[in-house]
Amino acid sequence: MKPSILVACAVFPEILDKLANHFEVSANQSDEVWTTADLATRLQGASGALTTGSERIDAALLAACPGLKICANMAVGFNNFDVPAMTAAGVLATNTPDVLTETTADFGFALLMTTARRMAESEHFLRAGLWHRWRYDMFAGAEVYGSTLGILGMGRIGQGIAKRAAHGFGMSVVYHNRNRLDAVTESACAARWVSKAELLATCDHLMLVLPYSPESHHTIGAAELALMKPTATLVNIARGGIVDDVALAAALRQGTIAAAGLDVFEGEPTVHADLLALSNVVLTPHIASATRSTRWAMAELAADNLIVYLTEGKALTPLNPQVLASKA
Ligand code: DGY
Repeated sequence: MKPSILVACAVFPEILDKLANHFEVSANQSDEVWTTADLATRLQGASGALTTGSERIDAALLAACPGLKICANMAVGFNNFDVPAMTAAGVLATNTPDVLTETTADFGFALLMTTARRMAESEHFLRAGLWHRWRYDMFAGAEVYGSTLGILGMGRIGQGIAKRAAHGFGMSVVYHNRNRLDAVTESACAARWVSKAELLATCDHLMLVLPYSPESHHTIGAAELALMKPTATLVNIARGGIVDDVALAAALRQGTIAAAGLDVFEGEPTVHADLLALSNVVLTPHIASATRSTRWAMAELAADNLIVYLTEGKALTPLNPQVLASKA
């Protein structure tokens, strides 16, 4: 008998067909939003799950689903997984690194350009029939070419953004990360490590690309925003919760910083009303990795992790390889 798996989110039908060659597949193609209790109920008897960042896998869920062997996240971020609890329960966790790096870096740069150059705001103005003549100061935004980009979090996506900024836009790139990059990587990114305080004070544009964890909760709040230039742009393509959205809305209202571009939000898909009320913030619905080919690659990698683990005991991109070792 084939093992059973649950695909907790809508995916390409071809990916479901591929999974069905190996498993009894139960799928959520209608993309119904499930509570944790729904998820636990639907996981009864399942050996594996394909999840997104919306499904929380924690100790309570694992205790309720003793048959679960693997959760394959269709995302590089995995803050929805309690990895230590999964390891303790002997459940393999996998994510989808690498396949979305360049697409996400492209989007980060696009959101920076859109925000700094006030493209969304000016488009709404035009559509509203408010454009009557050319004016010297109409939607005058911030310079991007030749300016200073600050990057907080310098993993693969941060490095991709740094290369675009330095080599394509003549920007000076400064970054802050817990671990400083080696000299070769720093030089390829043309990026200089600085303290977090210097990063905030010197950058014209701040890009957030760090992973979410309890330690990175509200990394950017009122105190950090106060250190930034009043002309600065902030872009968050990382995770909601890294920025204190209420403090950010206040800073945007009061002119502490000039503008923000946000693809992720605390408590998404709900977006704080204070942000929705502002015109100097560009809001997108967590789509940084959303090109057809990248979403395909993410779905395929998640599916392949399920297949190789449940059929051969192997994994392509394990987050807790200790589980593999313990089963060897
Ligand atoms: C990721 O891969 O982490 C993206 O944010 C999609 O969830």
